[in-house]
Amino acid sequence: RNPEKERLIEANELSAKLYHFLLKNTEHGTEAMKYLRSRGMNDKVIDQFQIGYAPDRWDTLVQFLSKRSFDLKEMEKGGLLSARHEQEGYLDRFRGRIMFPIHDRNGKVIAFAGRILGDGQPKYLNSPETLLFNKSRILYNLHQAKTSIRKSRQILLFEGYGDVISSWEAGLQSGVATMGTSLTENQVAIMKSMADEVVVIYDGDKAGMAAALKVIPMLEGVGLRVRIALVNEGMDPDDYIRKFGAERFRHVVETAVSTTKFKLIYLKKNHILLEEDGKIAYAKEALPIIAVLNSSTEREVYLRELSSELHLSYESLKQDCNLLRQSMQ
Ligand code: UTP
Ligand code: MN
Ligand code: MN
Ligand code: MN
Ligand code: MN
Repeated sequence: RNPEKERLIEANELSAKLYHFLLKNTEHGTEAMKYLRSRGMNDKVIDQFQIGYAPDRWDTLVQFLSKRSFDLKEMEKGGLLSARHEQEGYLDRFRGRIMFPIHDRNGKVIAFAGRILGDGQPKYLNSPETLLFNKSRILYNLHQAKTSIRKSRQILLFEGYGDVISSWEAGLQSGVATMGTSLTENQVAIMKSMADEVVVIYDGDKAGMAAALKVIPMLEGVGLRVRIALVNEGMDPDDYIRKFGAERFRHVVETAVSTTKFKLIYLKKNHILLEEDGKIAYAKEALPIIAVLNSSTEREVYLRELSSELHLSYESLKQDCNLLRQSMQ
């Protein structure tokens, strides 16, 4: 037992309840509620994810926590308050933000992410690293997703909070997300302990695709099966669900492609296949991706696709692929 930890958990839990109450039941939350509605969030999901609002005032939480006899210095260390610069005392860390509580695996609130209403910087303000919160060890929403994950042995890995929330609404309840940082070994180990397969559903932009490419070896490295969902150009899963609806999104997830396929798609984006140079360069870079596959059936599938795509004979591609395999041994 660590009494400081316990006090901090209690303060976080109470703060989450306060923010949630202020959003739903007071005038402070009116604008934030409008914003959430404009993003398609209904009351049920706002409750489910305990979403709240931190009013644009200096001392909402300072007042609330001191009335309940919490030590404000401890609360500052715990990431709920900030020390004032020019004078003694404390002020709220989160002001004028939509509050997403971050829970540990047992469902205790241990941190927050606060989103600005509309545009502005930073878009999300997260709790700092504290006694409770080490963001490299936490997966957002794991406390709720674990039931569904254990049943399906499958995890849906997203980039953002909104993506997890919208896909939950869309009927997919195995979704988790990292906290705006790259996936860590620790998070991979957590996933491995609960599931056999991870479907990566990152944003359909350049950054999202590059990030997906980076997590593939990490996940496959511990023996997890991996598939990549292809979200439309430029959209993130949350945008996609709002634009095309739940059913079409579930189809995107169901038809997530193999990591080999994904690497080939990614590669193809960088080459102009109408030109000879582009064709050759694409083939040269595609072959090593295919050559590492141990199953000859799998190799044949991808080589045949490549062959028809590039109008090159299957035989010559196979020959080059086999040469490459020999040189790899
Ligand atoms: P995105 O920029 O894709 O944001 O960052 P988003 O989740 O789609 O947010 P909306 O839809 O505009 O509200 C993906 C994730 O990166 C982290 C957050 O975890 C976010 O969900 N992030 C992003 C930060 O931590 N801080 C930032 O300023 C921006
Ligand atoms: Mn709770
Ligand atoms: Mn993004
Ligand atoms: Mn996004
Ligand atoms: Mn988004």
